[in-house]
Amino acid sequence: MQPVRATIQGLGVCIPTRILTNDDLARMVDTTDEWITARTGIKRRHLAEPDQATSDLALIAAQRALAQARVAPDDLDLIVVGTATPDMYFPATACLVQERLGAKQAGAFDLLAACSSFVYGLITAAQLIQSGGIRRALVIGAETLSRLLDWEDRRTCVLIGDGAGAAVVGPSTGNAGFYSGSVGADGSAGDVLKVTAGGSRMPITADAIERKLHRAYMDGQAVFKLAVRTIPTLIRRTVDRAGWTLEQVDRIVPHQANLRIIDAMREQLGVPADKFEVNIQEYGNTSAASVPIALWEAVEAGRIREGDRIVLAAFGGGFTYAACALIWGI
Ligand code: COA
Repeated sequence: MQPVRATIQGLGVCIPTRILTNDDLARMVDTTDEWITARTGIKRRHLAEPDQATSDLALIAAQRALAQARVAPDDLDLIVVGTATPDMYFPATACLVQERLGAKQAGAFDLLAACSSFVYGLITAAQLIQSGGIRRALVIGAETLSRLLDWEDRRTCVLIGDGAGAAVVGPSTGNAGFYSGSVGADGSAGDVLKVTAGGSRMPITADAIERKLHRAYMDGQAVFKLAVRTIPTLIRRTVDRAGWTLEQVDRIVPHQANLRIIDAMREQLGVPADKFEVNIQEYGNTSAASVPIALWEAVEAGRIREGDRIVLAAFGGGFTYAACALIWGI
């Protein structure tokens, strides 16, 4: 049997229509548009409506990706939803999406690697396809992190947005597709970004709510340093394993957490600024949805074209990180 190379056959996104600007936030907490723009690059973010759950955003992104790929739900063998904000503990959000898509032949599971979840999911799906285990997968990064925020904590609430992005992954017909993928984690840094209450260690009690332990906590400076220390090396390794040089890479799509983090990575790598995809000004950090939304925008705008060599790179709570190198096309 000929070895198969997996590739992305179609993309779709769901961006909530409700917008929260920096000026809106300045009316809610002690902050300013100037501070947020200078420290993060973010100008606005999109938030899910109160009646929209993660699976609602995931479903729309999934339907659009399937339509673009011209793949029927019945042709999916697997659905992976990367999310830190599932609709509920279980069933998995992936199962909710599977049912609503009518993807009756597909297995379904959620994957939790925080903001790295989508890239972790892509690498997992590509490997399953390349090993012959499955033929076609739908990988979704979907989040409603706004639900986990303390909207009185200016250190975190200004950073986040909601959204979803999906990719249909299937066998390539030519040279396009995945050439390498690396995942990693540093569990010793788990405390820098976490939601303490709501799991088996500490169920949500009145005391936990009083202490806001069911809300997202972040040591911003620690996350910043970890990202800048880890991601340039990860990108170099991923490019190297693909058998490419950094100069040959046409576009890098990094996780959109902070413009200053992206700038620092760029400087370390010595890659020209215009090779990096940046859309943080419009969406903030949408966690697992950030890479697929940025990838979709780059393709739609023609900044990524068939045959381009691209790198996707993400990091997030855990601490987790993941990157993959692919040639764009089907
Ligand atoms: N508006 C105004 N002032 C704010 C503020 C806000 N939204 N948030 C924090 N501040 C204040 C702080 O209270 C502090 O005041 P002080 O000096 O009087 O104590 C001051 O600004 C500086 O805070 P600091 O935390 O040192 O700022 P920073 O330059 O590190 O920027 C982050 C903070 C969160 C923007 C930055 O650390 C960051 O982006 N980290 C990475 C976060 C991330 O990527 N998370 C997701 C990972 S997937």
